[in-house]
Amino acid sequence: MKVSIIGGGGLVGSCAGFALQCGKVAREIALLDVNAELAAGQALDLLHGSPSVADQRIVSGSYEHVPSSDVICITAGLRRKPDETRLDLINRNTDLFVQILQQIQQAGVKPTAKVLVVSNPVDILTYVAAKQLPLPQDQVLGLGTQLDTIRFCSLLAEHLRVPPTQVKALILGEHGDSMVPVWSSATVAGLPLEKFPGWNLNAANQIFKRTKGSGAEVISRKGGAGFAVGIAIRDVIESILLDQQRILPVSTVQNGAYGIRDVALSVPTVVGCAGAMDRIELELWPKEMQGLRASAASLRPTLENVLRRIEGR
Ligand code: 2OP
Repeated sequence: MKVSIIGGGGLVGSCAGFALQCGKVAREIALLDVNAELAAGQALDLLHGSPSVADQRIVSGSYEHVPSSDVICITAGLRRKPDETRLDLINRNTDLFVQILQQIQQAGVKPTAKVLVVSNPVDILTYVAAKQLPLPQDQVLGLGTQLDTIRFCSLLAEHLRVPPTQVKALILGEHGDSMVPVWSSATVAGLPLEKFPGWNLNAANQIFKRTKGSGAEVISRKGGAGFAVGIAIRDVIESILLDQQRILPVSTVQNGAYGIRDVALSVPTVVGCAGAMDRIELELWPKEMQGLRASAASLRPTLENVLRRIEGR
């Protein structure tokens, strides 16, 4: 199965390429970038490691790779500044993103192709891609809060000094300021988090606050996130390629789950060979449900502005 990464020369795209290479599932990885030399350099660097990893094809190029791709991952776009929200990026990234969608359409896509949007603001751009691309809506997904969820679990594990793979705690909603922590179903080694030794409300608030600010924290410290984003991208793409049907908090256009429709944000989603194959409605605490619906409401004004801007082009 072939994965093309648009923006593959950049930090997020190249880290996604490395994560997919180490995952050994994708049989071909194509790094597409407007900076062809940079994409070629990233692909060569990845290729050099391939004898110790797996027999994969690793190439660079442009939209000629799109028609043969099973998954197209869009990471291209400007990065926000530490004091900018992801929604602030919208005006600068919308025009670029619409051009990318047009180039994908011109190149042609497999009817079974899945598109994973990573560019920010990811929920807005996922909605735009789902509406603009000639694919069934559920074949267009956004990375959404899968990245926030693994960040959240990593910080919880660090605080509790437990193995990070044994912490299960969801973030839902916007991949942005209105994201929602789901404490009601959080567990450590299958035990309820709120009954775990060393757990307290103050720690909870601190850890969620740091999770929400993690994107900006990484940007301020090293200029931009790459490694964890690459791993989150691999989580989603490998669930598609292997038809794992993992339940992941990814962004898709909602059609009634949790009482939310006609906006893209992250809810627990069954991710497999057909893309978003189902949505799981957890029984949330009332404040969690309110937060999720408030998250949808907070995205709507920006979404409506972007749609007007695109229609007016
Ligand atoms: C982040 O949170 C890039 O939005 C991504 O780091």
